[in-house]
Amino acid sequence: MRPVRTIRTQVGIVGAGPAGLTLAGLLGRQGIETVVLENKSRDYIEHRIRAGVLEQGSVELLEEAGVAGRLKREGLVHHGIELQFDGERHRVPLTELTGGASIVIYGQTEVVKDLVSARLAAGAPLLFEVQDVRLADIDSHCPRVEFSLEGQVTQLECDVVAGCDGSHGVSRATIPAGVLSSYSREYPFAWLGILAAVAPSSDELVYAHSPRGFALLSMRSPQLSRLYLQCRPDEDIASWEDARIWEELQLRLGLPGWTLAEGPVLEKGVTPMRSFVVEPMQYGNLFLAGDAAHIVPPTGAKGLNLALHDVRILAEALVDYYATGSKKSLAAYSERCLRRVWRSEHFSWWMTSMLHRSWDGDQYDEKLQVAQLRYTVTSGAAAASLAENYVGTAKA
Ligand code: APR
Ligand code: PHB
Repeated sequence: MRPVRTIRTQVGIVGAGPAGLTLAGLLGRQGIETVVLENKSRDYIEHRIRAGVLEQGSVELLEEAGVAGRLKREGLVHHGIELQFDGERHRVPLTELTGGASIVIYGQTEVVKDLVSARLAAGAPLLFEVQDVRLADIDSHCPRVEFSLEGQVTQLECDVVAGCDGSHGVSRATIPAGVLSSYSREYPFAWLGILAAVAPSSDELVYAHSPRGFALLSMRSPQLSRLYLQCRPDEDIASWEDARIWEELQLRLGLPGWTLAEGPVLEKGVTPMRSFVVEPMQYGNLFLAGDAAHIVPPTGAKGLNLALHDVRILAEALVDYYATGSKKSLAAYSERCLRRVWRSEHFSWWMTSMLHRSWDGDQYDEKLQVAQLRYTVTSGAAAASLAENYVGTAKA
């Protein structure tokens, strides 16, 4: 189909997840024009339940993008997490171990809602439910994004395209074969997650290693709990009635003198686990950011924070490009991001390996995990290492 209309912008952004929307917000504040294209509806992206832990640096970036008002009012500031193993809980005092850093619990879904409403309030272009998105001429000085909206085929001409369309998007797939190297690891686990209308039973997140498998107690607000259970990647959610989920959570998280408060299950789903990175994160005038370039398993709570870190670097490089006309910073984008990407890949793999039970019940593995957990909570150096990675202050 031939385009029937052409529009022009400086930076075309594919995908309205946290990466694309935050990039648009940061560039908007610097007077750089963007058009954001999203293939799902506004309602869909504002109700998809995703991650919930923000590093301090991520909070600061959202402040810079001008969207942290509600996050500052409603986000829950946490100064520690709990590691549970061998029937006991041990607190890792994140703030104490990192010279004052903390994390904020605030759902990715809420971040997306705040970014969308700020964008629409500013009258800046954000198009939902676009179809047949196709990137063209990405190695030229005038890359284009073609799409159709309500039957009208449009061509968006840009200086640069930001591929922020997640792990199943079209951007990465547009890069010619042979350019990218990819690195991945599959895990034999997934997480069965629920959102429940009940006050969280712990003030802080609890990561539990148990003979029945991993479990995590998290939250979204003083009235909403978010809980996860290690399960198989092909787990049939239909066989997990609410009562069975609570029973399993009680078994994995329960301790003498402590019970998990139960409540109505509002949402449930299975999250697969994968580690994946492509290098470089750029080809011509296409720059990949967030899940489009890398995936981490959720155990380290890094996916959202990495996506935000990428767009911070990309926004800085674009601001430099428009100010000076030099592409030097843009050329350094991939390398600058990848150092941190690999730090987070390692941390997420490490947390995943330490906390999940192998299905064959390998006793040697389990003994190693417990030895590692015990070392992590008894050695100041080991605890500090976990803490600086968790809060995002570790040097990459
Ligand atoms: N055209 C337009 N938009 C698309 C296309 C396409 N062809 N394909 C996908 N998208 C949209 C998706 O619908 C989604 O809204 O791109 C967006 C990508 O957003 P995310 O998947 O949230 O990815 P990102 O912004 O990189 O954020 C990473 O999301 O999955 C979590 O754990 C991950 O927390 C991390 C965060
Ligand atoms: C969440 O609350 O969704 C959450 C918290 C910590 C994680 C992963 C997910 O490591």
